[in-house]
Amino acid sequence: MVSSPAVASQPNTASQPNAGTWPAAGADRSPAVGGARSAALLARQRESLFDCVAPLYAEPVAIAEGSGCWVKDHDGREYLDAFAGILTTSLGHCHPEITAAVQEQAARLGHVSPLYVNEPQVEAAERLAGIAPGDLSRTFFLNSGTEAIETALTAARLHTGRTEVVALRHAYHGRTSMAAAVTAHAPWRVLPSTVTGITHALSPYPYRAPFGARTDEELSEIYARDLAEVIETTTNGRPAALIAETIQGVGGYIVPPRGYFQRMAEVVRSYGGVFISDEVQSGFGRTGGEWFGIEHWDVVPEIIVTAKGLGAGMPAGAVTATPEVAASWRGKTLSTFGGNPVCMAAVATAIRVMEEERVPSRASAQGGRLRAGLDALAERYSWIGEARGMGLMQALELVHDPHVKTPAPELGVALLNAARENGLLIGLGGLHGHVIRLGPSLLISPDEVDEALRRLSAACAAVDDSR
Ligand SMILES: Cc1ncc(COP(=O)(O)O)c(C=O)c1O
Repeated sequence: MVSSPAVASQPNTASQPNAGTWPAAGADRSPAVGGARSAALLARQRESLFDCVAPLYAEPVAIAEGSGCWVKDHDGREYLDAFAGILTTSLGHCHPEITAAVQEQAARLGHVSPLYVNEPQVEAAERLAGIAPGDLSRTFFLNSGTEAIETALTAARLHTGRTEVVALRHAYHGRTSMAAAVTAHAPWRVLPSTVTGITHALSPYPYRAPFGARTDEELSEIYARDLAEVIETTTNGRPAALIAETIQGVGGYIVPPRGYFQRMAEVVRSYGGVFISDEVQSGFGRTGGEWFGIEHWDVVPEIIVTAKGLGAGMPAGAVTATPEVAASWRGKTLSTFGGNPVCMAAVATAIRVMEEERVPSRASAQGGRLRAGLDALAERYSWIGEARGMGLMQALELVHDPHVKTPAPELGVALLNAARENGLLIGLGGLHGHVIRLGPSLLISPDEVDEALRRLSAACAAVDDSR
């Protein structure tokens, strides 16, 4: 068997960040799970961190190093990473240009606070405005998606002078009080919400739509009417905003029907509210062909929220809004670390590299290749109810019975573990943990897509055998 070279000996290159991928197809695979060093680290973690900081696998994957789409654990096992730290290492692990930008900036100036002007923050904002749709040209940088969601909701409230917000069922927007209140994914709402003025409209979930067979246009109309009804029956009729992910990520990559966001934006605006597009998962070319998911629906929101892939692995969140929305925030506010030079150097470099690498079209091509393989798996196994997604955001919804569509969370866990045994890291989502989610580096190569599919296919066969 060919043994895989060490991560450090296979650095990315600037022009071909995933060149020289390892291990080669058919090369040595991680034979078994677990490992003494990983287990020891988990034991230390259990003594030192909150229990809720819970690893995805019972047998922990303790990742020590990474390069491009590949990671290596503390016991020397290598994995093809098809989940990218929850769609966050958007240019792969340790992209050389991001690493260099961070190292260089950290050595020059690590922190100033928003009390002073810092060039990397200005450059990051200019680059974001350069790829954002319409007149979304003003940015407020934060440290995470959650903080950006809080900021976007507050901006919408200040701009409209209103307070009520409509979100969608199955949504995930973050973990603080207000972000959790707009979230409608029960497992992630650990306490009853004490935030008032938030209601939820139907999730645009065609696979589970309770209206029988409908065209996209009919479904969009049904969902838009539901939004109007929610506004009229559960609010004071004066909403500040509708907030929605363009593809519901944690919800299981729920893709709305064609025409949906055009109608939803029309409805909320007709009641005087603004539209906030949560692009934390779907931004930066992830959905293929466009920079932001919402552009597939030809809608320009008043506010876009980004995080995850924004910093290519460095912590950053952003609210990008129209000048009018941005100007409405007149009171004092500050984020000490928001816009810090080191993370901003990563953001500015990440967007530049994404433009140079034409990430939206790459994601479209490799996403199509990935999807073809997932469709073939869905054809083969009756317990895969649906393959869905856009670009490099693709999922498999697992069910017991393809007609009744009963969610199958045990199969989700089984497939997650079987994939890991085959050296492939994937994610889990959906309300019941029954949706397998893939979201690799946006620079994944065709060979790596094929290798991911080979490993996933082997994992599916193992799960099928054990049923
Ligand atoms: C769509 C969406 N919005 C917001 C968030 C919150 O981001 P963070 O975990 O960086 O606070 C997440 C995190 O998964 C998300 O998926």
